[in-house]
Amino acid sequence: MRDKIIEFLKENLIESRFTHTMGVCGESMRLAEHYGVDINRAELAALMHDCLKNKTDQELISIAQELGVKLDEIQLSNGKLLHAPVGAAFAKEYFNIEDSEIIDAVVYHTTGKADMTLLEKIIYLADYIEPNRQEFDGLSTLRDLAYTDIDKAVLSALETSAEYVESKGSILHPDTIAALNWLKDKEKEKERGYYMTTQEALKVSIKALDDKKAKDIQAIKLADITSVADYFVICTATSSTHAKTLADEIEDTLEGDTDRIFHKEGYRDTAWILLDYGDIVFHIFYGESRDFYNLEHLWADGEKVDVSKFLA
Ligand SMILES: [Fe+2]
Ligand SMILES: [Fe+2]
Repeated sequence: MRDKIIEFLKENLIESRFTHTMGVCGESMRLAEHYGVDINRAELAALMHDCLKNKTDQELISIAQELGVKLDEIQLSNGKLLHAPVGAAFAKEYFNIEDSEIIDAVVYHTTGKADMTLLEKIIYLADYIEPNRQEFDGLSTLRDLAYTDIDKAVLSALETSAEYVESKGSILHPDTIAALNWLKDKEKEKERGYYMTTQEALKVSIKALDDKKAKDIQAIKLADITSVADYFVICTATSSTHAKTLADEIEDTLEGDTDRIFHKEGYRDTAWILLDYGDIVFHIFYGESRDFYNLEHLWADGEKVDVSKFLA
């Protein structure tokens, strides 16, 4: 696969773009190794990230049409954005890449997006800091930051890009705005001592509950109606042992959040274990207690969250 892609790149990229791609490859693999990401996946994504970069806008638009890639107004008005989504769709088809995270790392390597995975962050950054990149103000700081705080590094690179796009009078892509907001929120949470944002904690803990076979997981957003918590997460366990397993799983999952306020009730012998993380409160019931307390009814004014989106 690797050889097939390199052969394609040699035929389809100008020399400087090929050199850049190889630089991104090396940098991605170093970052992947540093952050414990599979280096082969990082290499594949890096190899493909600019595979169609030397096509004209018109060529990219016709490839997009052939492959059924939907392009938005901003992508169509700014040719620089086209090669990422079109290149990704082309790579998927032409090189038979099934791994959607690799493909997404190519799709979002110019704009970024909210909730980027580690692999997506690595490709985004490696593209920015690879050794052949022309010097710009702050490049060496960014290179250091990439290996010490990847979120801060991606945020800094996104801010530099946003300034550049705006200085050219172009419109910032909504995915970039979403990425900026997401990372700024993350930094704020970190300053407050939170390791994960509420949304992230909600997502990983609901996923963890589902993995441990919690029944009937419900989440209610309460942020707008009470200061008790931002979210209640309610689920049912099949036995008291299962309830404890679920509680332990949540604790393990959120363990990194050392400063998240934490308070636990009912672990020993009640049919209701409550884990209070300040912003999210988990209620694990077993036996008939869930129907008895009927929290969903009590908090019916809250907004029901579609938990299936966290389980995909
Ligand atoms: Fe690119
Ligand atoms: Fe690139």
